[in-house]
Amino acid sequence: MLEVRHITLTLEHDRETRTLLDDVTFTVSPGHLLAIVGPSGCGKTTLMKVIAGLKEEDEGEIRWQGRDLAEEGDLHPSELGYVPQFSIAHELLTVEECIESAVALRTQLPDDEAVDALITKTLQQTGLTPLVDRPVKVLSGGQKRRLGLALELVTDPALLLCDEVTSGLDPKSEKEITHLLHELSRNNPQRIIINVTHSLTNLQLYDTILVLHEGRVVYHGPPRALQHYFSVEQAEDVYPKLARRSAERWGDSWKRHRDSYYATYGLAAVDPADAEIREPGREKLPSSMSADEEDDLEEDEVAALEVKSQSKRGKKEEEKPKKKQHEHDIAEEYEVPSFLSQTRELLSRRWLIFKRDKAQMWLQLAMIFGFPLLVVIFGFDGVPQVRTLSQRQNSNLITEAKEQSDYLTSLLKAGSLVSGLILMQVVLVTLMASNNAAREIAGERDILERERLGGLRPSSYVASKVLFLGTFVTAQSLWMGLFVEMLCPGVPGNLFIKLALLFMASAAMTSICLGISGIMRSPEKSTILCIYLVGFQLPLSGAVLALPKSLEPIFQPFIAAFWSWSGSLYTMKDTAFYEAVKKVTASTLESPSLALFVLSIHVTIGLVMAYVGTKRSQWD
Ligand SMILES: Nc1ncnc2c1ncn2[C@@H]1O[C@H](COP(=O)(O)OP(=O)(O)OP(=O)(O)O)[C@@H](O)[C@H]1O
Ligand SMILES: [Mg+2]
Repeated sequence: MLEVRHITLTLEHDRETRTLLDDVTFTVSPGHLLAIVGPSGCGKTTLMKVIAGLKEEDEGEIRWQGRDLAEEGDLHPSELGYVPQFSIAHELLTVEECIESAVALRTQLPDDEAVDALITKTLQQTGLTPLVDRPVKVLSGGQKRRLGLALELVTDPALLLCDEVTSGLDPKSEKEITHLLHELSRNNPQRIIINVTHSLTNLQLYDTILVLHEGRVVYHGPPRALQHYFSVEQAEDVYPKLARRSAERWGDSWKRHRDSYYATYGLAAVDPADAEIREPGREKLPSSMSADEEDDLEEDEVAALEVKSQSKRGKKEEEKPKKKQHEHDIAEEYEVPSFLSQTRELLSRRWLIFKRDKAQMWLQLAMIFGFPLLVVIFGFDGVPQVRTLSQRQNSNLITEAKEQSDYLTSLLKAGSLVSGLILMQVVLVTLMASNNAAREIAGERDILERERLGGLRPSSYVASKVLFLGTFVTAQSLWMGLFVEMLCPGVPGNLFIKLALLFMASAAMTSICLGISGIMRSPEKSTILCIYLVGFQLPLSGAVLALPKSLEPIFQPFIAAFWSWSGSLYTMKDTAFYEAVKKVTASTLESPSLALFVLSIHVTIGLVMAYVGTKRSQWD
């Protein structure tokens, strides 16, 4: 039993208080298919989100199987299925892969046979069996809605909330999906299905219809009584009729008639305290109306009389055996899988999607191999001279003043080349890093929201991203460092430390961009912010032009490129280049250990941002 009692939700917008839901009260019995209908913007989606626990009500309570959800905790992820307004699944996966993934993330089935059986059952239930191998991106609107339902059905939820899964389809598909919902409500006697729609066709397939108007319930009863209540010829005329009176008056009118309708049609009372007077068939029809409502008398009276004429049928419904209710115990197989199982599933799914995304794969390959080549082009001529210089210095042959002066000039040139080469490597590595992570979470935010509601752990999600992106960080930074070293050997400094600093620069930028991607709502905004972040690395590193001394402590802590570049140059401390490099940079160079420490703080901040952003609900 789902009891929604006196739910009110207001929103402050531009210093105005808007009431999105106003004293919404209704009860739904197990085995029931309910349609919530109403004009666009009347609060249907808002109400579904309140029931799903995605939005918090200001007043009122929601009870599920006798449990007050606000006080005793939300529904278990396996009890609730929420199919959002726009179907969401990874476009590059096939229908079967999507369902497989939902099963892996949401259930703990004992063996592969059980998994296969559940996938087959879900495919059959939703009529998707012929489409198992079809990629999501080529599915039609109706097929996508079926998939959206299938993804929620894997835990056989007792409460299935569907937001507009029948809308925007051709009449045939709309009818098919409504039939499917009807079947699904019948094949589990404990299940309640609520479908939100603004369409008023196929209403006869629902057990009851709830009409919402400007956040108020203005009718809740069987579809056959809808026309009678509103005194209209056909259901489609209900909306124009609604426009003829204020929502407040419609709402008040319904409150007066509600009990008689519930009693007449054997529907569950909204409040157990009133159950006695609302017992089916015994209810007296509303007998009086206040004077200011007399202009409504005619239509209200017609409606009331119609109810009277329906009461016989209502009695029949009353005779139906009442469905037994019991606590929905969570079966072991529907317990949320472990951290490791979820991480493993997300990681293997991410790799599969990456392999299918040819454009992304080619871009990665082009960057991994192209960027180091770019660095080598600049270093190819200069680095051999650097090598010669360092040999000359070591051979102690600098005796004459002219030679000394030439040597110093060359040393300065070499210092500038070495500094530039290292900076170029660092900046290109951070550019690749931002490309790795800028869209990683924001690009699949809707899927994440759906899966998190289904029990996905934010920690598993972030861990899978760390492992996935970690591969790129390692490949990009190490290849950059080793390739340049192989083709332009002789750049001074400790290779091992330089590689570690490149790796950490990449990890820091990847992590911060992942954090941005977790916090931003749209992938576009996240990408732009990450691009700016990379764009500022070069000027703010102080490597090209020194920052004013007063600004250095403000900017430098945030510039990953500075720390990686600076730490790498510092490893040349024992060579003649160090002084030269210091002369050409004019920035204070920091030790590699401090650089690694600061970069690891960047990594930590990015991961915390990603975790917080993943955990925070960001439904539209
Ligand atoms: N976060 C929000 N900020 C401001 N207004 C909001 C917010 N969420 C919803 N609303 C407003 O609340 C009202 C109800 O929105 P809701 O999405 O519930 O409508 P709906 O009945 O589902 O409409 P539709 O049939 O078009 O999907 C709308 O006027 C909407 O603009
Ligand atoms: Mg909506």
